Amino acid sequence: MEYAENILGTIGNTPLVKINKLTKELPCLVLAKYETFNPGNSVKDRMALKMIEDAEADGRLQPGGTIIEGTSGNTGMGLALAAIVKGYKCIFVLADKQSKEKCDILHAVGAEVVVCPTAVEPDDPRSYYSVSKRLAQETTNSWYVNQYDNPSNAIAHYQSTGPEIWKQTEGKITHFVVGVGTGGTISGVGKYLKEQNPDIKIWGIDTYGSVFKKYHETGIFDEKEIYPYVTEGIGEDILPKNVDFSIIDGFTKVTDKDGAVYTQRLAKEEGMFLGNSAGSAIKGVLQLQEHFTKDDVVVVLFHDHGSRYVGKMFNDEWMREQGYID
Ligand SMILES: Cc1ncc(COP(=O)(O)O)c(C=O)c1O
Repeated sequence: MEYAENILGTIGNTPLVKINKLTKELPCLVLAKYETFNPGNSVKDRMALKMIEDAEADGRLQPGGTIIEGTSGNTGMGLALAAIVKGYKCIFVLADKQSKEKCDILHAVGAEVVVCPTAVEPDDPRSYYSVSKRLAQETTNSWYVNQYDNPSNAIAHYQSTGPEIWKQTEGKITHFVVGVGTGGTISGVGKYLKEQNPDIKIWGIDTYGSVFKKYHETGIFDEKEIYPYVTEGIGEDILPKNVDFSIIDGFTKVTDKDGAVYTQRLAKEEGMFLGNSAGSAIKGVLQLQEHFTKDDVVVVLFHDHGSRYVGKMFNDEWMREQGYID
């Protein structure tokens, strides 16, 4: 018989799928690394399990402990699945701009959820960074995951996502394009791919309101770049340790409107029902088209599933209120 010992055994080995209509003007092959096939419906299952396993191994996470994390939802889902199988409790801290579906989903898998205001500085005591740290100090037998600076995040992608993409493309990949939040995905996959072939170009997708692109180009952390934005999962107002700027060749910024519109287009034109950062990622690929030639193989990674956005990017009333559609 062929079966997994538990749900964690189904993480990884996601398919690569060709994008056809949205990229028809491009000279090259564009393939999507389709991460919603993970059991928590996002790429984050991979790093969540790795962070837990590494914390168990060195004693930061003890039996019966409480896992505490600031998460936009997907990391929380991955952590919660592993916590259920392994017998831990979870408290997750979310910013209030995250979709209601993400909160509801975390409740569904047994986590306690604390919601914090988005429009405050990272070091404000009400921010989701500060609240998660405080809860970790106040809760006995707890472990604060800190996906931003936790090296196991990028290592998970170095050990699984990167090798899968290399193998699935038979080493023919020329460009990797992916949204950047904590930086775990781009840094882990990028490092692995560049070790196999240093000519592979690694492109990050950033948002307006985030510091990454300017910092990469100038070395300046410019606070004037920071303002609240709608796009979920990518861009930051901090520099996470998991973003390895040295392996990234460049960033392109995608507007909130384009990210949302292209999320709908992926669903309607490719049958790919995906999250908001996938819309930004595919629009980013189109923005980068001058960098691609006929024989290139571009892999774009899609992080999460559309079901988490039915109240927002897949709700036409919400899209009209934002001025994204007529
Ligand atoms: C939907 C979504 N897209 C993109 C990202 C960015 O991935 P990473 O944190 O690996 O940079 C995240 C991370 O939270 C996410 O949840």
